[in-house]
Amino acid sequence: MHNNQLPVRELVKRSLAAEFSLDVPPEAMFEGGPDDTPDVPAKKFYAFERARLKDLMVFWDAKEPALKLIGDPAAGKTSLIEQFHARMRWPLYLMSCSSDTQPYHLNGQLMPQLDGSLKWVDGPVIKAARIGASVLLDEYNTLAPSSATSLNALLEGYSITIPETGEVIKAAPTFRVFATENSIHSRVAVAGRNVQDAANDERWMVVEVDYLRPELELAIVKETLMKRGTTEADAQLVADIIVKTAIQTRTLYRQEDPSIEKPMSTRVALRWARLQCAYQSVRAQNLSPLHYSLSRAFHTPSPAMRAKTFEVFKSVSGLDH
Ligand SMILES: Nc1ncnc2c1ncn2[C@@H]1O[C@H](COP(=O)(O)OP(=O)(O)O)[C@@H](O)[C@H]1O
Ligand SMILES: [Mg+2]
Repeated sequence: MHNNQLPVRELVKRSLAAEFSLDVPPEAMFEGGPDDTPDVPAKKFYAFERARLKDLMVFWDAKEPALKLIGDPAAGKTSLIEQFHARMRWPLYLMSCSSDTQPYHLNGQLMPQLDGSLKWVDGPVIKAARIGASVLLDEYNTLAPSSATSLNALLEGYSITIPETGEVIKAAPTFRVFATENSIHSRVAVAGRNVQDAANDERWMVVEVDYLRPELELAIVKETLMKRGTTEADAQLVADIIVKTAIQTRTLYRQEDPSIEKPMSTRVALRWARLQCAYQSVRAQNLSPLHYSLSRAFHTPSPAMRAKTFEVFKSVSGLDH
């Protein structure tokens, strides 16, 4: 078939400790693609939670075809899959799904050429299936069930025929599908989420993703502050306030505190850290940069939530301005 197109023809051993910044013996190795593998996401700063990585490695080594990550918005689902592939040197095609996503967006379509003819162009799913790469269907539960169902045959390992061209495609053995979903049980902005039909739903290995462990979140917030010139001692203090405030909002949210309409995510915590550095020289409204940047980093939809968030911040930080 198309084996000559496989993006990863040989495997390279690398150190788990070095690539994933983990506290494991240096001789622990994993196998990934060579450095020049095409379509590998760029490596970015990412702190891997050990348990999450273990789930990914088990999924990978068990040669399961499909993995779904479910969790609160901005818990770190998309970036986990992206950065895992960056470390594995494995090609990943990312597709942001919405209720408007049609099967042809996923699979491909005939496109008009300059000479007036039509040429088949693979969508991300067929492209990955053909060459044995990974595809990430982000916000999977926004897909209309009819679009999700178009994946069923490939996920089950069957050959599929492209109706427009008659070509028969059998997924290469290393083809993997990843999906992320914001939990439909979460109270956070989940309007427009669909429940997929049972036949599609049971094709996935499922991992529930929670927010990072506090020590790890503290470490990445601290690193963000230090990268922007904050001394280590100050970064420790500030990161501690940011992470404790974030955790407190999540606890209140889960206790169904009526004023907290959404928890503070890792994304917001990191933005708060960056803005706190940028606002250092600004003493707006007589507020400390930390206080002022919180209001710029975390949008609070209602006055009650704003008041509650600042109450939490003040009790955590001991600052009254
Ligand atoms: N473990 C982590 N290390 C570094 N950054 C993280 C981590 N988890 C989340 N982030 C950051 O938080 C933001 C939200 O993560 P993302 O993966 O987009 O969340 P989700 O897909 O769950 O909504 C991103 O900017 C990401 O870089
Ligand atoms: Mg995401």
